[in-house]
Amino acid sequence: MILAPSILTADFLRLGAEVEAALTAGIRWLHLDVMDGRFVPNISFGPPVVRALRPLAARYDAILDAHLMIVEPERYLETFVAAGCERITVHIEASTHLHRTVQTIRALGARPGVALNPATPLGALEEILPEVDLVLIMTVNPGFGGQSFIPGGLDKVARLRQILRARRLEHIDIQVDGGVNPETIGLLRDAGATVAVAGAAIFGPDRGIASAIGALRAALGEQG
Ligand code: DX5
Ligand code: ZN
Repeated sequence: MILAPSILTADFLRLGAEVEAALTAGIRWLHLDVMDGRFVPNISFGPPVVRALRPLAARYDAILDAHLMIVEPERYLETFVAAGCERITVHIEASTHLHRTVQTIRALGARPGVALNPATPLGALEEILPEVDLVLIMTVNPGFGGQSFIPGGLDKVARLRQILRARRLEHIDIQVDGGVNPETIGLLRDAGATVAVAGAAIFGPDRGIASAIGALRAALGEQG
């Protein structure tokens, strides 16, 4: 299972140092929570921060994964790819022309993902599934780090895994996002998730970044 720290909960006064601590601990996938204050009730950061992180990520051969929690994401696809994002995930709820948006992400040279809020059924993926490289299952309502895991997310991940198997689309990553911690990460891996986003569990106040990452790896039964 790939660990993808969300920098939303990192100390923005020391963002570079905190991200480098995660990279030094073996992280090679950085999850960037872009929020516009309209699709979600919070505003986080945009392309300037992505551009600032790009050289650091490149030094460790790490990928930048933009989770666009914004309305009309098609307006910013080129900007985020130019800023250095290898992965761009848009919310199905925010995309009127999702097929065109996914095709545009791929045409720009990035790998497209679609995100589903907790109340959005898997059926919404029916037509777009063969076009994407990743499905993001939100296990909290988007907008903030440090929220409690929504237990229904487990069954949703398991049902999506079944669908991918049945449709011979098992190359598609299942990314889980929200409330991932040592108690939930193993359950999510067993349900079929392949990428785990963790914010507060890694950058929260009470422990060092490397040991927090080690705790998640230990919960997966992997070496620290
Ligand atoms: C929430 C974001 C998540 C969040 C995860 O809208 O999409 O990536 O930052 O943070 P934790 O792991 O703290 O729930
Ligand atoms: Zn996210």
